Amino acid sequence: MPSYYEFSCPVKILCGHAALPNLPYELEQLGASRPAIVTDEGVVAAGLLDKVTAVFEGSNCEVGAIYDKTPPDSSITTVNELAALYKDKGCDSLVAVGGGSALDTAKAVNIVISEGTGDLMQFQGVDRLTKPAKPLVAIPTTAGTGSEVTAVAVITDQERDVKLPFMDSRLFPHVAILDPAMTVTLPPKITAATGMDALTHAVEAFYCLGKNPVSDAYSVAAITLIREHLVRCVEDGSDPEDRLAMANAALLAGISFSNSLVGVVHSLAHACGGVAHVPHGVANSILLPVGMENNLDKVGAVIADLAPHLGAKVSAGASERERAEAAIQAVRDLGKRLSELCGLPTRLSDAGVKEDQLEAIAKTAINDGAVTYNPEEITYEDALRLIRQAF
Ligand SMILES: NC(=O)c1ccc[n+]([C@@H]2O[C@H](COP(=O)([O-])OP(=O)(O)OC[C@H]3O[C@@H](n4cnc5c(N)ncnc54)[C@H](O)[C@@H]3O)[C@@H](O)[C@H]2O)c1
Ligand SMILES: [Fe+2]
Repeated sequence: MPSYYEFSCPVKILCGHAALPNLPYELEQLGASRPAIVTDEGVVAAGLLDKVTAVFEGSNCEVGAIYDKTPPDSSITTVNELAALYKDKGCDSLVAVGGGSALDTAKAVNIVISEGTGDLMQFQGVDRLTKPAKPLVAIPTTAGTGSEVTAVAVITDQERDVKLPFMDSRLFPHVAILDPAMTVTLPPKITAATGMDALTHAVEAFYCLGKNPVSDAYSVAAITLIREHLVRCVEDGSDPEDRLAMANAALLAGISFSNSLVGVVHSLAHACGGVAHVPHGVANSILLPVGMENNLDKVGAVIADLAPHLGAKVSAGASERERAEAAIQAVRDLGKRLSELCGLPTRLSDAGVKEDQLEAIAKTAINDGAVTYNPEEITYEDALRLIRQAF
């Protein structure tokens, strides 16, 4: 039990099969009527932007601008381009429609607009914002990052090949709209990768240094939903009930880690993204069992507690160490099952990482903020050993 902790989730959540049509009403409640929509080309191609623009018909709101060029992992250039469009079109709010890349881009644009700055970098780090943010509604189309309920944005600095975190309570979206109509189009491999990102949030939040009883409850609820619904969504993505369950899992895991933070798995995954452009969920899926193993000596008992929730096979009378190892094996087995179903990589060498990038990844990872919350201290040599293990 921690001697002290804080917990917060000020986001209004609208979740269900017909949640999306409430968007204009929610904007009006926030005093906004002319949003800029932030999305990407994959989301537009899946027909999801049309669903969003359709709900504005007959409402008191009109779409001020649409930006659909968000790249994977976003970038500082994208954020600046979008902020200029927002101002040029006289927008008064942001609606993010997409995965973590679109949602985090909208959060970063909000920093540039609200702070009236031309230099996003000035606000990198923790609690750096000074002005109230513009109304932001997040509509996730992946079930993974939980960015719709986190105070975090991750943006890539393309010149330095590094993913930069921004953390501030002003970055919480005002409203999150979760509607399974927005995730049924997600292809199996992205469903699997993003679902494993959510699992990584829930599991790392459960055993890392910021854990607390409230985040633990959210983590366990998320893990249970992922255990029951992720494979089903990958096998057949058309069932709205499974999609709704995964949307809730990502949301719960997001609330959990936004309050308790994550550890070495995320620092290595961010570095794999920055240096080798491995999709965030793919990197986490490969690295999660490696990171759990690395923490066995420090928090074996906590990891053992996850065994039943992960559906681990544990024999009667198993020791604490055996239960913890079974929990890790359950994560490995899930990764293997997803790999068989949709080709989700289980090794970094299959995810586009080259051997001569491993040192750069390890170097970048030990400078990533998440590493501070890992129970086991991580040196450069440790990071290199872990990344080689996953290679
Ligand atoms: N802010 C946070 O709290 C937080 C947490 C974890 C990760 N992240 C960041 O989020 C980013 C990753 O986000 P992501 O994993 O959601 O992926 P993403 O946003 O990069 O999207 C991946 C791909 O899926 C496509 N796609 C998305 N939804 C679709 C749908 N419904 N149908 C068809 N195609 C669809 C997109 O077009 C894109 O090509 C990373 O940059 C990561 O660092 C942020
Ligand atoms: Fe993540």
